[in-house]
Amino acid sequence: MKISILGTGYVGAVTGACFAELGNSVVFVDIDPAKLDLIRTGRSPIFEPGLDELLGKNLKRISATTDTGEAIRETDVTFICVGTPSNPDGSIDLQYIEAASQAIGEVLRQKESWHTVVMKSTVVSGTTAGIVQRTLEEASEKVAFRDFGLASNPEFLREGSALADVFSPDRIVIGAEDPRSREVLERLYSSFDCPKLVCAIPVAEMIKYVSNAFLATKISFANEIGNLCKLMGIDTAEVFEGVGLDARINPAFFRSGIGFGGSCFPKDVRALIAQAEEMGVLPKILQSVMAVNEDQPMRLLDLLKKHIPDLRGKRIGVLGLSFKPDTDDIRESRAIPIVSALLEAGADVIAYDPLAIANFRSLFPDISYASSAAEVLQSDAVLLITEWKGFEVLDYAGKIVIDGRRVPKAAIGSIYEGVCW
Ligand code: UDX
Repeated sequence: MKISILGTGYVGAVTGACFAELGNSVVFVDIDPAKLDLIRTGRSPIFEPGLDELLGKNLKRISATTDTGEAIRETDVTFICVGTPSNPDGSIDLQYIEAASQAIGEVLRQKESWHTVVMKSTVVSGTTAGIVQRTLEEASEKVAFRDFGLASNPEFLREGSALADVFSPDRIVIGAEDPRSREVLERLYSSFDCPKLVCAIPVAEMIKYVSNAFLATKISFANEIGNLCKLMGIDTAEVFEGVGLDARINPAFFRSGIGFGGSCFPKDVRALIAQAEEMGVLPKILQSVMAVNEDQPMRLLDLLKKHIPDLRGKRIGVLGLSFKPDTDDIRESRAIPIVSALLEAGADVIAYDPLAIANFRSLFPDISYASSAAEVLQSDAVLLITEWKGFEVLDYAGKIVIDGRRVPKAAIGSIYEGVCW
Protein backbone atom coordinates (compact mmCIF):
# COMPACT_ATOMS: atom_id res chain seq x y z
CA MET A 1 0.00 0.00 0.00
CA LYS A 2 1.17 3.57 -0.63
CA ILE A 3 0.69 5.64 2.49
CA SER A 4 1.24 9.30 3.29
CA ILE A 5 1.67 10.45 6.87
CA LEU A 6 0.81 14.08 7.67
CA GLY A 7 2.81 15.20 10.69
CA THR A 8 6.05 13.60 11.85
CA GLY A 9 5.62 14.09 15.58
CA TYR A 10 5.45 11.16 17.94
CA VAL A 11 2.45 9.40 16.42
CA GLY A 12 3.35 10.12 12.79
CA ALA A 13 6.98 9.05 13.06
CA VAL A 14 6.16 5.79 14.85
CA THR A 15 3.13 4.94 12.70
CA GLY A 16 4.95 5.64 9.42
CA ALA A 17 8.03 3.64 10.37
CA CYS A 18 5.89 0.68 11.42
CA PHE A 19 3.82 0.77 8.22
CA ALA A 20 7.09 0.76 6.23
CA GLU A 21 8.27 -2.24 8.25
CA LEU A 22 5.03 -4.01 7.26
CA GLY A 23 6.09 -3.62 3.61
CA ASN A 24 4.20 -0.45 2.63
CA SER A 25 5.79 2.56 0.96
CA VAL A 26 5.50 5.58 3.17
CA VAL A 27 5.77 9.30 2.42
CA PHE A 28 6.24 11.51 5.47
CA VAL A 29 4.95 15.09 5.22
CA ASP A 30 5.83 17.91 7.59
CA ILE A 31 6.24 21.67 7.44
CA ASP A 32 9.59 21.32 9.23
CA PRO A 33 12.33 20.39 6.69
CA ALA A 34 14.77 19.55 9.51
CA LYS A 35 12.56 16.67 10.68
CA LEU A 36 12.28 15.39 7.10
CA ASP A 37 16.07 15.54 6.65
CA LEU A 38 16.45 13.34 9.72
CA ILE A 39 13.90 10.83 8.42
CA ARG A 40 15.58 10.68 5.01
CA THR A 41 18.80 9.61 6.69
CA GLY A 42 17.10 7.02 8.86
CA ARG A 43 17.05 9.06 12.04
CA SER A 44 13.95 9.68 14.10
CA PRO A 45 12.79 13.24 14.79
CA ILE A 46 11.67 12.12 18.28
CA PHE A 47 13.28 9.90 20.91
CA GLU A 48 11.80 6.42 20.92
CA PRO A 49 13.82 3.25 21.53
CA GLY A 50 14.29 1.26 18.31
CA LEU A 51 12.83 3.90 15.98
CA ASP A 52 16.11 4.96 14.36
CA GLU A 53 16.86 1.33 13.58
CA LEU A 54 13.39 0.77 12.11
CA LEU A 55 13.60 3.89 9.91
CA GLY A 56 17.14 3.00 8.81
CA LYS A 57 16.17 -0.57 7.98
CA ASN A 58 13.23 0.54 5.81
CA LEU A 59 14.81 3.53 4.06
CA LYS A 60 14.12 2.11 0.61
CA ARG A 61 10.39 2.29 1.29
CA ILE A 62 10.49 5.74 2.91
CA SER A 63 10.47 9.23 1.47
CA ALA A 64 9.84 12.64 2.99
CA THR A 65 8.54 15.92 1.60
CA THR A 66 7.09 19.28 2.62
CA ASP A 67 4.77 19.09 -0.42
CA THR A 68 1.39 17.75 0.74
CA GLY A 69 0.05 17.75 -2.83
CA GLU A 70 2.81 15.52 -4.14
CA ALA A 71 2.45 13.13 -1.17
CA ILE A 72 -1.29 12.76 -1.58
CA ARG A 73 -1.20 12.37 -5.35
CA GLU A 74 1.39 9.60 -5.06
CA THR A 75 -0.34 7.60 -2.32
CA ASP A 76 -3.69 5.87 -1.78
CA VAL A 77 -4.14 6.44 1.92
CA THR A 78 -3.33 9.45 4.11
CA PHE A 79 -3.03 9.22 7.88
CA ILE A 80 -3.58 12.54 9.65
CA CYS A 81 -1.07 12.54 12.54
CA VAL A 82 -0.79 16.25 13.33
CA GLY A 83 -0.82 17.57 16.89
CA THR A 84 -3.94 18.41 18.87
CA PRO A 85 -2.72 20.76 21.61
CA SER A 86 -4.93 21.94 24.48
CA ASN A 87 -6.77 25.25 24.58
CA PRO A 88 -6.55 27.16 27.88
CA ASP A 89 -9.99 25.73 28.89
CA GLY A 90 -8.78 22.13 28.38
CA SER A 91 -10.63 21.56 25.10
CA ILE A 92 -8.50 20.54 22.12
CA ASP A 93 -7.23 23.00 19.58
CA LEU A 94 -8.18 21.69 16.14
CA GLN A 95 -6.32 24.26 14.03
CA TYR A 96 -3.74 21.75 12.72
CA ILE A 97 -6.43 19.15 12.03
CA GLU A 98 -8.45 21.72 10.10
CA ALA A 99 -5.39 22.90 8.14
CA ALA A 100 -4.48 19.29 7.27
CA SER A 101 -8.06 18.57 6.15
CA GLN A 102 -8.06 21.71 4.01
CA ALA A 103 -4.73 20.79 2.39
CA ILE A 104 -5.87 17.21 1.68
CA GLY A 105 -9.23 18.38 0.33
CA GLU A 106 -7.58 20.79 -2.11
CA VAL A 107 -5.49 17.97 -3.56
CA LEU A 108 -8.43 15.55 -3.67
CA ARG A 109 -10.30 18.04 -5.84
CA GLN A 110 -7.92 17.20 -8.71
CA LYS A 111 -7.26 13.57 -7.84
CA GLU A 112 -9.21 11.03 -9.83
CA SER A 113 -8.32 7.77 -8.14
CA TRP A 114 -9.89 6.70 -4.83
CA HIS A 115 -8.17 8.05 -1.74
CA THR A 116 -8.79 7.18 1.88
CA VAL A 117 -8.19 9.71 4.65
CA VAL A 118 -7.64 8.19 8.09
CA MET A 119 -7.69 10.16 11.34
CA LYS A 120 -4.88 8.93 13.62
CA SER A 121 -4.49 12.06 15.76
CA THR A 122 -6.39 11.94 19.04
CA VAL A 123 -9.54 13.99 18.48
CA VAL A 124 -12.70 14.21 20.58
CA SER A 125 -15.62 12.20 19.33
CA GLY A 126 -17.45 13.92 16.51
CA THR A 127 -14.39 15.70 15.07
CA THR A 128 -13.86 13.45 12.05
CA ALA A 129 -17.53 13.35 11.07
CA GLY A 130 -17.75 17.09 11.86
CA ILE A 131 -15.06 19.60 11.05
CA VAL A 132 -12.81 17.13 9.18
CA GLN A 133 -15.49 15.78 6.85
CA ARG A 134 -16.92 19.26 6.28
CA THR A 135 -13.52 20.78 5.46
CA LEU A 136 -12.53 17.88 3.20
CA GLU A 137 -15.83 18.05 1.32
CA GLU A 138 -15.77 21.82 0.90
CA ALA A 139 -12.14 21.92 -0.24
CA SER A 140 -12.46 18.93 -2.58
CA GLU A 141 -15.97 19.68 -3.82
CA LYS A 142 -16.54 15.95 -3.38
CA VAL A 143 -18.64 13.82 -1.06
CA ALA A 144 -17.09 11.69 1.69
CA PHE A 145 -17.71 7.92 1.52
CA ARG A 146 -18.88 8.27 -2.10
CA ASP A 147 -15.93 10.04 -3.76
CA PHE A 148 -13.23 9.45 -1.17
CA GLY A 149 -12.87 7.35 1.97
CA LEU A 150 -12.80 8.64 5.53
CA ALA A 151 -12.03 6.60 8.65
CA SER A 152 -10.68 6.76 12.19
CA ASN A 153 -7.93 4.51 13.47
CA PRO A 154 -6.81 5.63 16.94
CA GLU A 155 -3.41 4.69 18.33
CA PHE A 156 -2.70 3.30 21.79
CA LEU A 157 1.06 3.84 21.90
CA ARG A 158 3.03 4.29 25.07
CA GLU A 159 6.19 6.33 24.86
CA GLY A 160 9.19 4.11 25.39
CA SER A 161 7.41 0.97 24.15
CA ALA A 162 5.63 2.37 21.11
CA LEU A 163 7.05 -0.12 18.60
CA ALA A 164 6.03 -3.11 20.69
CA ASP A 165 2.61 -1.50 21.14
CA VAL A 166 2.19 -1.19 17.35
CA PHE A 167 3.37 -4.70 16.52
CA SER A 168 1.68 -6.49 19.43
CA PRO A 169 -1.49 -4.50 20.10
CA ASP A 170 -4.28 -5.64 22.44
CA ARG A 171 -6.73 -4.57 19.77
CA ILE A 172 -7.03 -2.54 16.59
CA VAL A 173 -9.91 -0.11 16.38
CA ILE A 174 -11.22 0.67 12.90
CA GLY A 175 -13.82 3.42 12.70
CA ALA A 176 -15.16 3.02 9.18
CA GLU A 177 -18.54 3.66 7.67
CA ASP A 178 -17.97 2.90 3.99
CA PRO A 179 -16.86 -0.52 2.75
CA ARG A 180 -13.83 0.78 0.83
CA SER A 181 -12.27 2.56 3.82
CA ARG A 182 -12.95 -0.47 5.95
CA GLU A 183 -11.34 -2.74 3.38
CA VAL A 184 -8.24 -0.49 3.18
CA LEU A 185 -7.72 -0.62 6.95
CA GLU A 186 -8.47 -4.34 7.20
CA ARG A 187 -5.93 -5.01 4.46
CA LEU A 188 -3.33 -2.81 6.14
CA TYR A 189 -3.70 -4.75 9.39
CA SER A 190 -4.32 -8.18 7.82
CA SER A 191 -1.14 -9.70 9.31
CA PHE A 192 -2.25 -8.91 12.90
CA ASP A 193 -4.17 -11.58 14.77
CA CYS A 194 -5.43 -9.44 17.68
CA PRO A 195 -9.12 -8.50 18.01
CA LYS A 196 -10.13 -5.92 15.40
CA LEU A 197 -13.13 -3.85 16.28
CA VAL A 198 -14.89 -2.24 13.35
CA CYS A 199 -17.25 0.50 14.48
CA ALA A 200 -18.68 3.90 13.63
CA ILE A 201 -16.13 6.72 13.43
CA PRO A 202 -17.37 8.61 16.55
CA VAL A 203 -17.25 5.33 18.50
CA ALA A 204 -13.60 4.78 17.50
CA GLU A 205 -12.73 8.31 18.60
CA MET A 206 -14.52 7.80 21.92
CA ILE A 207 -12.77 4.45 22.56
CA LYS A 208 -9.43 6.25 22.52
CA TYR A 209 -10.50 8.89 25.06
CA VAL A 210 -12.28 6.47 27.32
CA SER A 211 -9.30 4.09 27.35
CA ASN A 212 -6.95 6.85 28.45
CA ALA A 213 -9.47 8.31 30.89
CA PHE A 214 -10.02 4.91 32.47
CA LEU A 215 -6.30 4.22 32.85
CA ALA A 216 -5.87 7.68 34.40
CA THR A 217 -8.79 6.89 36.71
CA LYS A 218 -7.10 3.68 37.84
CA ILE A 219 -3.96 5.65 38.70
CA SER A 220 -5.78 8.36 40.66
CA PHE A 221 -7.81 5.68 42.42
CA ALA A 222 -4.61 3.83 43.35
CA ASN A 223 -3.17 7.12 44.62
CA GLU A 224 -6.20 7.97 46.74
CA ILE A 225 -6.20 4.49 48.25
CA GLY A 226 -2.41 4.69 48.59
CA ASN A 227 -2.67 7.92 50.60
CA LEU A 228 -5.12 6.19 52.94
CA CYS A 229 -3.00 3.02 53.20
CA LYS A 230 0.05 5.08 54.15
CA LEU A 231 -1.84 6.64 57.06
CA MET A 232 -3.04 3.19 58.13
CA GLY A 233 0.42 1.63 57.89
CA ILE A 234 -0.75 -0.78 55.18
CA ASP A 235 1.33 -1.61 52.10
CA THR A 236 -0.73 -0.28 49.20
CA ALA A 237 1.23 -2.26 46.58
CA GLU A 238 0.26 -5.47 48.34
CA VAL A 239 -3.35 -4.33 48.46
CA PHE A 240 -3.40 -3.69 44.71
CA GLU A 241 -1.60 -6.95 44.02
CA GLY A 242 -4.53 -8.69 45.67
CA VAL A 243 -7.10 -6.48 44.00
CA GLY A 244 -5.53 -6.93 40.55
CA LEU A 245 -5.76 -10.70 40.81
CA ASP A 246 -9.48 -10.35 40.25
CA ALA A 247 -9.75 -11.00 36.50
CA ARG A 248 -12.55 -8.44 36.30
CA ILE A 249 -10.18 -5.77 37.56
CA ASN A 250 -6.66 -6.51 36.13
CA PRO A 251 -3.41 -5.43 37.85
CA ALA A 252 -2.21 -2.83 35.31
CA PHE A 253 -1.98 0.90 36.07
CA PHE A 254 -2.42 0.50 39.81
CA ARG A 255 1.08 1.74 40.69
CA SER A 256 0.52 4.49 43.21
CA GLY A 257 2.96 7.37 43.35
CA ILE A 258 3.03 11.04 42.43
CA GLY A 259 0.55 10.71 39.57
CA PHE A 260 0.44 10.66 35.83
CA GLY A 261 2.04 13.02 33.34
CA GLY A 262 2.88 12.85 29.65
CA SER A 263 1.33 14.11 26.48
CA CYS A 264 -1.85 12.03 26.68
CA PHE A 265 -3.48 11.31 30.02
CA PRO A 266 -3.74 14.87 31.41
CA LYS A 267 -4.65 16.36 28.03
CA ASP A 268 -7.17 13.68 27.12
CA VAL A 269 -8.93 13.70 30.49
CA ARG A 270 -9.19 17.50 30.34
CA ALA A 271 -10.55 17.32 26.78
CA LEU A 272 -13.17 14.76 27.80
CA ILE A 273 -14.14 16.97 30.76
CA ALA A 274 -14.46 19.95 28.42
CA GLN A 275 -16.59 17.94 25.98
CA ALA A 276 -18.84 16.63 28.77
CA GLU A 277 -19.34 20.14 30.15
CA GLU A 278 -20.12 21.44 26.69
CA MET A 279 -22.81 18.76 26.46
CA GLY A 280 -24.24 19.82 29.84
CA VAL A 281 -22.90 16.76 31.72
CA LEU A 282 -21.06 17.24 35.02
CA PRO A 283 -18.07 14.83 34.75
CA LYS A 284 -17.59 14.31 38.51
CA ILE A 285 -15.33 11.26 38.28
CA LEU A 286 -13.07 12.78 35.64
CA GLN A 287 -12.79 16.01 37.61
CA SER A 288 -11.75 14.04 40.69
CA VAL A 289 -9.19 12.09 38.64
CA MET A 290 -7.52 15.38 37.73
CA ALA A 291 -7.87 16.84 41.24
CA VAL A 292 -6.17 13.80 42.83
CA ASN A 293 -3.45 13.98 40.19
CA GLU A 294 -2.77 17.65 40.89
CA ASP A 295 -2.58 17.16 44.68
CA GLN A 296 -0.40 14.07 44.56
CA PRO A 297 3.01 15.69 43.80
CA MET A 298 2.41 18.18 46.61
CA ARG A 299 2.22 15.28 49.06
CA LEU A 300 5.88 14.63 48.32
CA LEU A 301 6.64 18.20 49.39
CA ASP A 302 4.58 17.79 52.58
CA LEU A 303 6.57 14.66 53.47
CA LEU A 304 9.84 16.47 52.81
CA LYS A 305 8.77 19.36 55.04
CA LYS A 306 7.97 16.91 57.81
CA HIS A 307 11.71 16.21 58.01
CA ILE A 308 13.06 19.60 56.87
CA PRO A 309 10.39 22.16 57.87
CA ASP A 310 12.27 25.17 56.50
CA LEU A 311 13.59 24.51 53.00
CA ARG A 312 15.24 27.93 52.62
CA GLY A 313 18.84 27.46 51.51
CA LYS A 314 18.60 23.67 51.75
CA ARG A 315 20.10 21.70 48.88
CA ILE A 316 17.38 19.35 47.60
CA GLY A 317 18.26 16.68 45.05
CA VAL A 318 15.72 15.75 42.39
CA LEU A 319 16.19 12.39 40.68
CA GLY A 320 14.22 12.14 37.44
CA LEU A 321 12.69 14.90 35.32
CA SER A 322 10.95 13.03 32.49
CA PHE A 323 7.27 12.11 32.95
CA LYS A 324 8.27 8.44 33.03
CA PRO A 325 11.48 6.44 32.43
CA ASP A 326 12.99 5.79 28.96
CA THR A 327 11.91 9.08 27.44
CA ASP A 328 13.21 12.65 27.28
CA ASP A 329 9.62 13.94 27.35
CA ILE A 330 8.84 16.32 30.20
CA ARG A 331 5.30 17.24 29.15
CA GLU A 332 3.14 17.39 32.29
CA SER A 333 5.99 15.72 34.20
CA ARG A 334 5.34 15.68 37.94
CA ALA A 335 8.83 17.14 38.26
CA ILE A 336 7.48 20.50 37.04
CA PRO A 337 5.11 21.31 39.95
CA ILE A 338 7.58 19.76 42.41
CA VAL A 339 10.57 21.83 41.30
CA SER A 340 8.36 24.96 41.18
CA ALA A 341 7.21 24.34 44.76
CA LEU A 342 10.78 23.68 45.95
CA LEU A 343 11.95 26.96 44.43
CA GLU A 344 9.01 28.81 45.94
CA ALA A 345 9.98 27.42 49.34
CA GLY A 346 13.50 28.80 48.87
CA ALA A 347 15.28 25.48 48.27
CA ASP A 348 18.44 25.16 46.24
CA VAL A 349 17.61 22.47 43.65
CA ILE A 350 20.07 20.08 42.01
CA ALA A 351 18.52 17.75 39.47
CA TYR A 352 19.52 14.84 37.28
CA ASP A 353 17.85 12.83 34.53
CA PRO A 354 19.54 10.50 32.03
CA LEU A 355 17.72 12.04 29.02
CA ALA A 356 15.50 14.97 29.93
CA ILE A 357 17.91 17.61 31.29
CA ALA A 358 18.03 19.61 28.03
CA ASN A 359 14.23 19.80 27.86
CA PHE A 360 13.89 20.63 31.54
CA ARG A 361 16.57 23.31 31.35
CA SER A 362 14.43 25.25 28.87
CA LEU A 363 11.71 25.50 31.57
CA PHE A 364 14.03 25.88 34.58
CA PRO A 365 17.29 27.45 33.36
CA ASP A 366 18.38 28.54 36.84
CA ILE A 367 18.44 25.33 38.88
CA SER A 368 21.63 23.24 39.04
CA TYR A 369 21.93 20.13 36.89
CA ALA A 370 24.19 17.28 37.94
CA SER A 371 26.25 15.23 35.51
CA SER A 372 25.42 12.00 37.33
CA ALA A 373 22.71 10.62 39.59
CA ALA A 374 25.30 10.01 42.34
CA GLU A 375 26.12 13.74 42.42
CA VAL A 376 22.48 14.49 43.34
CA LEU A 377 22.90 12.41 46.48
CA GLN A 378 25.29 15.08 47.83
CA SER A 379 22.36 17.08 49.17
CA ASP A 380 20.24 17.58 52.29
CA ALA A 381 17.45 15.36 50.95
CA VAL A 382 16.64 13.52 47.72
CA LEU A 383 13.27 13.35 45.97
CA LEU A 384 12.66 10.42 43.61
CA ILE A 385 10.41 11.60 40.79
CA THR A 386 10.97 9.12 37.94
CA GLU A 387 11.80 5.42 38.35
CA TRP A 388 14.78 5.23 35.98
CA LYS A 389 16.57 1.87 36.22
CA GLY A 390 19.86 3.60 37.05
CA PHE A 391 18.36 5.03 40.26
CA GLU A 392 17.92 1.53 41.65
CA VAL A 393 21.66 0.99 42.04
CA LEU A 394 22.56 4.19 43.91
CA ASP A 395 23.78 4.11 47.49
CA TYR A 396 21.07 5.84 49.49
CA ALA A 397 22.61 4.90 52.88
CA GLY A 398 22.56 7.82 55.32
CA LYS A 399 20.33 9.99 53.10
CA ILE A 400 16.90 11.53 53.59
CA VAL A 401 14.91 10.05 50.70
CA ILE A 402 11.33 10.94 49.78
CA ASP A 403 10.20 8.50 47.11
CA GLY A 404 7.44 9.30 44.61
CA ARG A 405 7.80 6.09 42.57
CA ARG A 406 8.81 3.25 44.86
CA VAL A 407 12.46 2.59 44.10
CA PRO A 408 13.16 -0.45 46.36
CA LYS A 409 16.84 0.21 47.08
CA ALA A 410 16.05 3.75 48.28
CA ALA A 411 14.42 2.35 51.42
CA ILE A 412 17.88 2.01 53.04
CA GLY A 413 18.02 5.82 53.43
CA SER A 414 18.42 7.00 57.04
CA ILE A 415 15.00 8.56 56.65
CA TYR A 416 12.83 7.03 53.96
CA GLU A 417 9.26 7.99 53.11
CA GLY A 418 7.25 6.77 50.15
CA VAL A 419 4.44 9.02 49.00
CA CYS A 420 1.87 6.23 49.47
CA TRP A 421 3.87 3.67 51.49
C1 UDX B 1 -0.41 6.61 27.57
C2 UDX B 1 -1.23 5.34 27.27
O1 UDX B 1 -0.71 4.26 28.05
C3 UDX B 1 -1.21 5.01 25.80
O2 UDX B 1 -2.03 3.89 25.53
C4 UDX B 1 -1.71 6.23 25.02
O3 UDX B 1 -1.70 6.01 23.63
C5 UDX B 1 -0.88 7.46 25.36
O4 UDX B 1 -0.90 7.67 26.78
P1 UDX B 1 2.16 7.21 27.86
O5 UDX B 1 1.69 8.60 28.18
O6 UDX B 1 3.31 7.04 26.92
O7 UDX B 1 0.95 6.33 27.28
O8 UDX B 1 2.63 6.57 29.24
P2 UDX B 1 2.09 5.50 30.30
O9 UDX B 1 3.08 4.42 30.40
O10 UDX B 1 0.71 5.13 30.06
O11 UDX B 1 2.20 6.37 31.64
C6 UDX B 1 1.53 7.62 31.78
C7 UDX B 1 1.79 8.22 33.14
O12 UDX B 1 1.12 7.46 34.14
C8 UDX B 1 3.26 8.26 33.56
O13 UDX B 1 3.52 9.51 34.18
C9 UDX B 1 3.40 7.12 34.55
O14 UDX B 1 4.41 7.34 35.50
C10 UDX B 1 2.02 7.14 35.19
N1 UDX B 1 1.61 5.84 35.77
C11 UDX B 1 1.40 4.78 34.95
C12 UDX B 1 1.39 5.72 37.14
O15 UDX B 1 1.56 6.69 37.89
N2 UDX B 1 0.95 4.52 37.64
C13 UDX B 1 0.73 3.45 36.85
O16 UDX B 1 0.33 2.40 37.39
C14 UDX B 1 0.97 3.57 35.47
